[in-house]
Amino acid sequence: MTTLKTNLLGFKLHSPLVAASGPMTRNFTTIKQLANAGIGAAITKTILLTPSTNPQPCLYRGKGYFLNTERCSTIPLQRWLEEELPRLRELSIPIIASIGMTPDEVAELAPSVVEAGAQMLELSIFTGYDDPQPMVEAVRRVKSAVDVPVLVKLSANLHDIVEFGHAVQKAGADAVSAIDALKAGVRVDVTTGHPVLLQQGFGRISGESIKPLALYNVAQLAHYVGIPIIGTGGVTSGADAVEMLSCGAAAVGVCTALILDGPDKATRMNEQILDFMNEHGISSLDEIRGRTLSQIDFPEATEERQEYEKRQVQLTDQAAFIDQETCIKCGVCRRVCLYGAVNEFDGAFVIDPARCKACGLCVSMCPVNAIAYREKKEAER
Ligand SMILES: Cc1cc2nc3c(=O)[nH]c(=O)nc-3n(C[C@H](O)[C@H](O)[C@H](O)COP(=O)(O)O)c2cc1C
Repeated sequence: MTTLKTNLLGFKLHSPLVAASGPMTRNFTTIKQLANAGIGAAITKTILLTPSTNPQPCLYRGKGYFLNTERCSTIPLQRWLEEELPRLRELSIPIIASIGMTPDEVAELAPSVVEAGAQMLELSIFTGYDDPQPMVEAVRRVKSAVDVPVLVKLSANLHDIVEFGHAVQKAGADAVSAIDALKAGVRVDVTTGHPVLLQQGFGRISGESIKPLALYNVAQLAHYVGIPIIGTGGVTSGADAVEMLSCGAAAVGVCTALILDGPDKATRMNEQILDFMNEHGISSLDEIRGRTLSQIDFPEATEERQEYEKRQVQLTDQAAFIDQETCIKCGVCRRVCLYGAVNEFDGAFVIDPARCKACGLCVSMCPVNAIAYREKKEAER
């Protein structure tokens, strides 16, 4: 039987989808809606000793991206401890409390938040972009104060996410969530010249556009650190979730898509993952998890990893080839070919292997996947 069941740090999730910290996890009511819609687990909005105040406006939907200047939870700690967290315990999904922002603060918050009902903690720690020490100290102090799994939220803005992953793992972190929304983006209203996020002028970037970066960071953490990861960033469909799992994520974080499409998005995404699995004869997510990692070139030397472009390139003897039976003769390949390698004969498009550089552009833009790579000799035939 096909199943979405996922094990996360000893907890049984009925779906790999985890609601990442954000406005949709701001209290009991919103998290309950997500649980009813089929989310596997939820990470609360980041709880602080002193509640935050949000700039107004603080949210902006752009084309393929989202900007926000939302701060941490605006709910006072006492209400989290006395009302929200105890009620969340009634739900059938694991609750991860996100707490921040300094080692002192999280060490103080952790015991009371766990006592109030959090089953796991996620630490959101202010840190310099090349200094993991505040995270390391936060993990050590929280781990010695509570007996629940501790995750650390990591950002792709860090100088080297692998170094941070190793550091927090060594300090005792059980898992990481990656990535956070990115610093930072601006959108200008061209009529007025004002930035759309009026008070601050810039915001953190999330949504579709950050998915490739999120996948890269998740793949790196999976390969080099080998710690469980809630892979987060730009996931908006079941196919995106499958991509995230393929890059080694243990579970899949979703924030912006739930904001934009509402809690029912979780139901649809679960259905999409199940449809994909059924279509491809996959019964368990373990068959998907990490399957792409062996095909990514991970240099062993740290210097080569950080300065990847210095690595030697192997030229192949391949060219793109159009399958005429699948081709719909739209001509996109001819229009985009940078090397004039696509010829038209009586309405049919044919690639000249001698000119083709196998750059991949036509392959990625063909609307019906009619173009694939072949050895040049074979394509010439
Ligand atoms: C409006 C908004 C508020 C967020 N608030 C928090 C937060 O309080 N704590 C936190 O760790 N991450 C927060 N995030 C980051 C998300 O948890 C997530 O890591 C990021 O948005 C990338 O995922 P996505 O592309 O699915 O949104 C917030 C993101 C958004 C868009």
